[in-house]
Amino acid sequence: MTPAGFCFCLLALVLCLVSATLRIEPKTSGGFLLSNGSASARKELFLRPGESLTLTCTSDWPGRPLNWTRVLQRDQDPSVVVRGISGTSVTLNSIRGSDGGDYVCSDGTSKVSYFVNVWDNQSLVPQNVLTNGTYVHVYLKCHQRFAFNFPLTWTRKVGDTTYILNDHPADDKNYTIGGDEDGYHLSIFNHEYRRYPLKTGQYQCQLNTSRHSIPAGLQPLQQTVTYEATPDVRIDGERSATTASPFTATCIYSGAANDRVRWIFTNDSGEHETARKIVLVDYDDVLIPCPNAAGTEDPDRKCLAENPRVSLTRDRSLENSSTVHEHTSVLYISNTTLEDRGTYECFVRSDHGENTAATFLRIKDKYAALWPAIGVLAEIVLLLLIIFLCERRRSRVEEEEEARQPLNANAQNNNASAEPAVAIRNRK
Ligand SMILES: *[C@@H]1O[C@H](CO)[C@@H](O)[C@H](O)[C@H]1NC(C)=O
Ligand SMILES: *[C@@H]1O[C@H](CO)[C@@H](O)[C@H](O)[C@H]1NC(C)=O
Ligand SMILES: *[C@@H]1O[C@H](CO)[C@@H](O)[C@H](O)[C@H]1NC(C)=O
Ligand SMILES: *[C@@H]1O[C@H](CO)[C@@H](O)[C@H](O)[C@H]1NC(C)=O
Ligand SMILES: *[C@@H]1O[C@H](CO)[C@@H](O)[C@H](O)[C@H]1NC(C)=O
Ligand SMILES: *[C@@H]1O[C@H](CO)[C@@H](O)[C@H](O)[C@H]1NC(C)=O
Ligand SMILES: *[C@@H]1O[C@H](CO)[C@@H](O)[C@H](O)[C@H]1NC(C)=O
Ligand SMILES: *[C@@H]1O[C@H](CO)[C@@H](O)[C@H](O)[C@H]1NC(C)=O
Ligand SMILES: *[C@@H]1O[C@H](CO)[C@@H](O)[C@H](O)[C@H]1NC(C)=O
Repeated sequence: MTPAGFCFCLLALVLCLVSATLRIEPKTSGGFLLSNGSASARKELFLRPGESLTLTCTSDWPGRPLNWTRVLQRDQDPSVVVRGISGTSVTLNSIRGSDGGDYVCSDGTSKVSYFVNVWDNQSLVPQNVLTNGTYVHVYLKCHQRFAFNFPLTWTRKVGDTTYILNDHPADDKNYTIGGDEDGYHLSIFNHEYRRYPLKTGQYQCQLNTSRHSIPAGLQPLQQTVTYEATPDVRIDGERSATTASPFTATCIYSGAANDRVRWIFTNDSGEHETARKIVLVDYDDVLIPCPNAAGTEDPDRKCLAENPRVSLTRDRSLENSSTVHEHTSVLYISNTTLEDRGTYECFVRSDHGENTAATFLRIKDKYAALWPAIGVLAEIVLLLLIIFLCERRRSRVEEEEEARQPLNANAQNNNASAEPAVAIRNRK
């Protein structure tokens, strides 16, 4: 490297180091200072909605390009707000909670930031939860667009009573509140995946400012977080049936109103890719009352006008004994055929979505069970036939011998004459 080049590099390095000093100057129409509660902590400026703020970024190297970026939430990527040179500013007029976040001025080598806190409900960002069926653990979160996290008070309104979940007994783990590092989330525990007592619905997160001196006249900040779940569905069905006999499968569900059920049959072609889906009963199908097999009226029994083989009913005894408010839809197919082999799926829909369960049905031919019996029968008949033929053959031999004996007997003495005949019989 030439001495000139070396000098140039050194100059660039020095310039780099010198220019690395950036400053932000805020100018605001209002705001108030709030500490995060610790004695030695620096104070953060909070703005009321409607106030304005101008942030100006200056650099020791006037001509150097710089840009303003904003990070809305701690875990999100920054987005560029404006590009410019030293003296470029960001102006937030009539500020709102959605303007809050970390504003970063950077010239590529160094950066400096300013957290914009807005005392607005929008500075609380609810993280609603929708689960597919009931989960054991559910976490509700309320992100805070503030430089530090306030503790949250979680409440839930049931009827006319508002429960403070922070006060929930610690041993019963239905509700627990996380710490600062997890943003004071609410953890909901559904014992053994059980839906009842029902915990879906609306929850409120509220800033607990008891450790901070909030100026008089400020409204508390609060947001609503919803937790919803699709229905829980399971199927209790026969796994096999014989042709011409009926088939029933019971779909047991909770978390949805009655009759929000759809049954779909997929015929199974084993190795072949020829499976076909058939909707047996759809959500919107018109079901008409129909008598049961015995001809008596069953108020729960409903038939499809265009598919008389299929009918639906309910298992009242299961519903009555269910402690978790389960409903049932019993699919009944009279007179199964070999084509009914396949997968039966029950879909249940609620306002929050759909969930499903399935069972596989094998069909045995009614006469299939008879084939082994017929085989055994045939063997017995064959055996009897062989014995019969053998017996007949032997008696013919005996007759012939007996017919010959008188001649022999005449040749020998009479007493010994029976011996050969006995010997022949014993040879069997
Ligand atoms: C308050 O902020 C200071 C500095 O930002 C930090 O060290 C401290 O842990 C914070 N305290 C609380 C209770 O958040
Ligand atoms: C401006 O922001 C973009 C995107 O964050 C970044 O790639 C670029 O280096 C920045 N420019 C300066 C001069 O800081
Ligand atoms: C919901 O869960 C069921 C099993 O309970 C699963 O079969 C189904 O694919 C899931 N649906 C979605 C949308 O994740
Ligand atoms: C707010 O937090 C304080 C402790 O900092 C606690 O004593 C108080 O009960 C909380 N208030 C509510 C309504 O949760
Ligand atoms: C907590 O959940 C269990 C099981 O679901 C329930 O029996 C109990 O009543 C619940 N406790 C409260 C205080 O809600
Ligand atoms: C936030 O919302 C609550 C309830 O909706 C309301 O009472 C309160 O005044 C609101 N606070 C602000 C600062 O808008
Ligand atoms: C299923 O249905 C398709 C279409 O009708 C048919 O081609 C296929 O043979 C069926 N499979 C069985 C196992 O019945
Ligand atoms: C279920 O309960 C209903 C009403 O509560 C009652 O009329 C019906 O007889 C019960 N059915 C069974 C099978 O227990
Ligand atoms: C069942 O179906 C078979 C053939 O599809 C038919 O011959 C028979 O009569 C049916 N039995 C009843 C009880 O419907």
